[in-house]
Amino acid sequence: MADILILVGTESGNAQMVADLLQEELAKDGHAVEVEAKAMDKAKDKAKDKGGAARLAERGVVLICCSTHGEGELPENIRPLYDALARTRPDLSHLRYGVIALGDQSYRETFCRGGKTIDALFASLGAERIGERLEIDACTQPLPDEEALDWAKEWVSLL
Ligand SMILES: Cc1cc2nc3c(=O)[nH]c(=O)nc-3n(C[C@H](O)[C@H](O)[C@H](O)COP(=O)(O)O)c2cc1C
Repeated sequence: MADILILVGTESGNAQMVADLLQEELAKDGHAVEVEAKAMDKAKDKAKDKGGAARLAERGVVLICCSTHGEGELPENIRPLYDALARTRPDLSHLRYGVIALGDQSYRETFCRGGKTIDALFASLGAERIGERLEIDACTQPLPDEEALDWAKEWVSLL
């Protein structure tokens, strides 16, 4: 059984909803799943990453669940973690990870760029991505959590 940390990047709650469902459902299958977003949201000073980057040193498996906002930008709540990792560049070669990127195909050039950006950062820090990145298109997928759950069940089997 896997011990998974889900990191959530969300502006309007879709990625959070997906993460919460995955936590519930994967736990039913016996996996230990922690969702990080709430802790990040509660940080008094949102400009600072409250130890999120350091906590990755203690983890083996991370699932990133991240939307895209603005013109291909990361949601604000995950920006401090991204910035801390990009600045300190820790060795994440002990880490295996997966990416669920939420976006909208109508933003052609920047489709799912938030998830792609985090994916590229983790890979550049030596982490090993397990499976293909899931890209969920809000235009054609009204139920992102269902698509994500099917994908996640397959993903955990690859761990
Ligand atoms: C103002 C705004 C800008 C967006 N920009 C992008 C974008 O550049 N690329 C993309 O793929 N999706 C974009 N989206 C779509 C969101 O990523 C998508 O709706 C996602 O499901 C939102 O998830 P969240 O509620 O977790 O933030 C944008 C949505 C809004 C409202």
